[in-house]
Amino acid sequence: MIPEPAPTVRELLAFYLEAGVDCALAEQPIDRLAELDAPPPAARAAPAEPPRPVAAPAVMRGEAAPAPDVAISAAREAARTAPTLEALRELMQHFEGCALKHTATRLVFADGNPQARIMFVGEAPGRDEDIEGLPFVGRSGKLLDLMIGAIGLNRSTAYISNVIPWRPPGNRTPTPQETQICLPFIQRHIELVNPDVLVTLGNPSTQTLLSTREGIMRTRGRWFEYETGTRAIRALPTFHPAYLLRSPSYKRLAWQDLRAIAKALAG
Ligand code: URA
Repeated sequence: MIPEPAPTVRELLAFYLEAGVDCALAEQPIDRLAELDAPPPAARAAPAEPPRPVAAPAVMRGEAAPAPDVAISAAREAARTAPTLEALRELMQHFEGCALKHTATRLVFADGNPQARIMFVGEAPGRDEDIEGLPFVGRSGKLLDLMIGAIGLNRSTAYISNVIPWRPPGNRTPTPQETQICLPFIQRHIELVNPDVLVTLGNPSTQTLLSTREGIMRTRGRWFEYETGTRAIRALPTFHPAYLLRSPSYKRLAWQDLRAIAKALAG
């Protein structure tokens, strides 16, 4: 058999791009196959533990990835104990139960003013957010800034976060398990910010936070109640700015939603 010629760098890059790999995670490649032969993590020297402000369950101690149901209950337990936003951020930095953390560059926690009366929640960070560590800083973030600017808001009068705090590799859709693992963190996040108005951006955020299966075409512009457990917050779904970039004709409806938001904040 004639051996295949080695691929050129250009061909290799094209292959990676097609597979969804669009940025480098580290300076040096990691041979994951070699890792299979290495002793299991428990047998290796324990990594130095970072300081933790609250008691951490096993999934926060760098042990092998837990089963999704174990990770979900660990996330619930951990999130419940976070007394402040800073404690919540710290706790999420050390949470090991979500595989997305290991491919993302960093945690994307939030941006804006935690005292704001309005909180926007998107789906998950993309490439630009992963690099900067802040939500909505790429193209759709620029449009979100314009949208909120149109009703007199900006990042010092609004607060912005995502359901998923780590970038899914290649911007793939988060799996239902990943979403369920991250859900207790954003729920506690909303509870701690305690805004007067919650805006869910796009379908995934709306369906996850407002427990509905209806699509964004039906939910947008309709007021829901988001229950924190201690209080009901008025919640309004609207289009995700990335969707508006692809389908600008829906900006007219988004404008109606923004006006409803402005009215709710004024009322
Ligand atoms: N899309 C999102 O849902 N969130 C971001 O932070 C950026 C893009």
